Amino acid sequence: MDNFPIINLENLNGDERKATMEKIKDACENWGFFELVNHGIPHDLMDTVERLTKEHYRKCMEQRFKELVSSKGLEAVQTEVKDMDWESTFHLRHLPESNISEIPDLSDEYRKSMKEFALKLETLAEELLDLLCENLGLEKGYLKKALYGSKGPTFGTKVTNYPPCPKPDLVKGLRAHTDAGGIILLFQDDKVSGLQLLKDGNWVDVPPMHHSIVINLGDQLEVITNGKYKSVEHRVVAQTDGTRMSIASFYNPGSDAVIYPAPTLIEENNEIYPKFVFEDYMNLYARLKFQAKEPRFEAFKESNVNLGPIATV
Ligand code: OGA
Ligand code: NI
Repeated sequence: MDNFPIINLENLNGDERKATMEKIKDACENWGFFELVNHGIPHDLMDTVERLTKEHYRKCMEQRFKELVSSKGLEAVQTEVKDMDWESTFHLRHLPESNISEIPDLSDEYRKSMKEFALKLETLAEELLDLLCENLGLEKGYLKKALYGSKGPTFGTKVTNYPPCPKPDLVKGLRAHTDAGGIILLFQDDKVSGLQLLKDGNWVDVPPMHHSIVINLGDQLEVITNGKYKSVEHRVVAQTDGTRMSIASFYNPGSDAVIYPAPTLIEENNEIYPKFVFEDYMNLYARLKFQAKEPRFEAFKESNVNLGPIATV
């Protein structure tokens, strides 16, 4: 099997531009995932975000997680747990407006670093969308516009720690799913592994790498590209030793954005993906995240509209 795609973004500036664009295209078509190095986000900012995230976990989250685990008896389970994940997590929203000032227990320094990091990630997400446009033969700005809605994209960060788990085969760090949104940028622990994607029926590790950013594509890009690019199933397997940090930022459509396949990507008689309002998709996803994505798409197809999304699942 080919190796997990690593893209050196700096190579876009020189002789290797064409080969690098090709590599991105191949990753989008065949993996749904790739890992970026030399992405332009300052390493010292990443180091600060990592240090503050780990400090915050130890100070504010770890004890709470331990209490939850013992109250649910999760350490001693004998059969597979299907309704919970072995993760300690909190969410931040950046766009359409930031809620960072309202999240409790964050130091000023942590708030400031996360804001700065999110701004860099937002820029990187939009750069990547344009690279995808180029590879897809779409005009520059097409994907950004497609996700925009009336108030711009929704951009948020899920900050997670996956503590050591005594039964990683029975309780997943995060159960298998595809991501609902547009493009996802992940700053993951550089030592403790655990993220896996499903490729050709096998779970493949996403290798930890210092200062890299892992990218993956969500369901909305699958719809807009009319299936040229696919959202790929992934999961987190917690480790028996070591806590894994994961800071996942989701660049998603605005809630009222109307999502549909780009007309130039529809070959004749080949319109397979539906049209819908992103918010409606998210309402469905909230209930069906850990199930296959196909019924979600089916629910919005023309012939099912009268039944409504709920009656079809
Ligand atoms: C997610 C996700 C991966 C990770 O939150 O959707 O896939 O490594 N996270 O935490
Ligand atoms: Ni995910």
